[in-house]
Amino acid sequence: MQDSKLMQILLKRGFIWPSFEIYGGVKGFYDYGPLGSLLKRNIEEAIRQTYVIEESCFELSCPTLSPEDIWVASGHVSSFNDMMVECTKCGEPYRADHLIEANLKINCDGKGIDEIKKLLEKLKCPKCKSMLSEPYKYNLMFKSYVGPGSRKITAYLRPETAQTTYVPFKRLIKIARDKLPFGVLQIGRSFRNEISPRQGLVRLREFTQAEIQFFVDPANKEKELGEFANLNLAILPKDGKEINITLGKALKQKIIRTPFIAYHLGKAFQLFTKIGINPKKLRLRQHLDDERAFYSSDTWDIEFMSKELGRIELVGISDRTDYDLKAHQNLSKQSMEVTFNGKRFIPHIIEIAYGVDRPFYCILESCFVEETGKKERNIFKFPANIAPYIAAVFPLVTKDRIDKKAEEVFNKLKNQQLFVLYDSAGSIGRRYARADEAGIPYCITIDYDTLEDNTVTIRYRDSMEQERVQIDKIKEKIMGK
Ligand code: GAP
Repeated sequence: MQDSKLMQILLKRGFIWPSFEIYGGVKGFYDYGPLGSLLKRNIEEAIRQTYVIEESCFELSCPTLSPEDIWVASGHVSSFNDMMVECTKCGEPYRADHLIEANLKINCDGKGIDEIKKLLEKLKCPKCKSMLSEPYKYNLMFKSYVGPGSRKITAYLRPETAQTTYVPFKRLIKIARDKLPFGVLQIGRSFRNEISPRQGLVRLREFTQAEIQFFVDPANKEKELGEFANLNLAILPKDGKEINITLGKALKQKIIRTPFIAYHLGKAFQLFTKIGINPKKLRLRQHLDDERAFYSSDTWDIEFMSKELGRIELVGISDRTDYDLKAHQNLSKQSMEVTFNGKRFIPHIIEIAYGVDRPFYCILESCFVEETGKKERNIFKFPANIAPYIAAVFPLVTKDRIDKKAEEVFNKLKNQQLFVLYDSAGSIGRRYARADEAGIPYCITIDYDTLEDNTVTIRYRDSMEQERVQIDKIKEKIMGK
């Protein structure tokens, strides 16, 4: 992946780069550079818009380091494990299922420990061809301590935001005025000490999640599909037979059993499309019974079929039942029950668990276009709503007051709350090329005519067409398009 054209541009333009480079780097950590930070922020804003505004969810922000009890109650201390093997000679660590998938081309979803052990017997260390160790369970959480000396307590960096949203449930239900259902979005960092992260942004040790927890009445997981009923999608149910079907029919035929889950699969699919992920590369996949996380009774993923990295899970939608709230009730001895519609019960949770880094990568792969022929161009065709900058402002030359006029236009657009970039270095052609590689939809050039008639040239990234526009009309022109 490091050598691909896409990756070269991401590094050169400052979208992302490996962290701690001057000290040799550590696998599984990436910095978001100036363009990447803006793009990532816009993805997070699109998620916030979808859930806090359109779905009326609350938003919450909790610490990333939390005491051991939370992770004992949730089951992560005992069960958040991957199967690992090491080379007995060179010590290279491998995640057992990934090693099998890469070398034997066998998908390990749902395979038990005995089957995994048998398959591993056929393999040697890919690096030095020596014997592999017996596979063993490896807990993915980063352990730490809070406080000094004998007062210190054991803590963990959270491996998911979800638990930190469940812990204050008693406060949240009051804010929801004791009514169900209600949803809570939390966007923040999560940490997993992944065994062998080799796939760039797809498998990080520190990453951003945007997880929405819907607290629902166990007897009511209904939801009208509305506009999503006619959405035609590629669906792979747990019977292994992939089909193309509308969400409405999938629900009617009980391929997807829970209306609430079907609705949110539609909502997530729509969001991915809006932020520039190629919908033709998306697929809904139901988890197999022995693949599902320990807390879930039904899980559906939306996956992206990447040209470079294969199948990438972008979001997981799970019915977590009352597993988590019950677990926290048991350990904390605090009641998580509610009284609703005359009944007393622990609410069920339906979770929409997005990562942000993986969609970030899939947007880049979906929007990247290499135009060949007479005019060679590398372009990111980002939708305007997520592009890092909406426009770039160029003075044709840096003399004869043209640069002063360009700065005036630049400041005017900034005062109109637009993310604009000023670039006066090199020829206009080179500046267009840089703007295309940054995915900037509009380039605005200030020239000698601007001094006479207050018009500028707007150049459209995708069509390369140009148009003369009054300075006062620039915002309307670029935001209305
Ligand atoms: N709370 C449920 C949960 O954490 P998950 O499927 O393990 O479920 C949810 O994670 C999402 O977080 C994934 O769909 C993925 O987008 C992202 N994610 C998980 N592990 C990741 C990693 N190591 N690097 C980058 N993103 C990751």
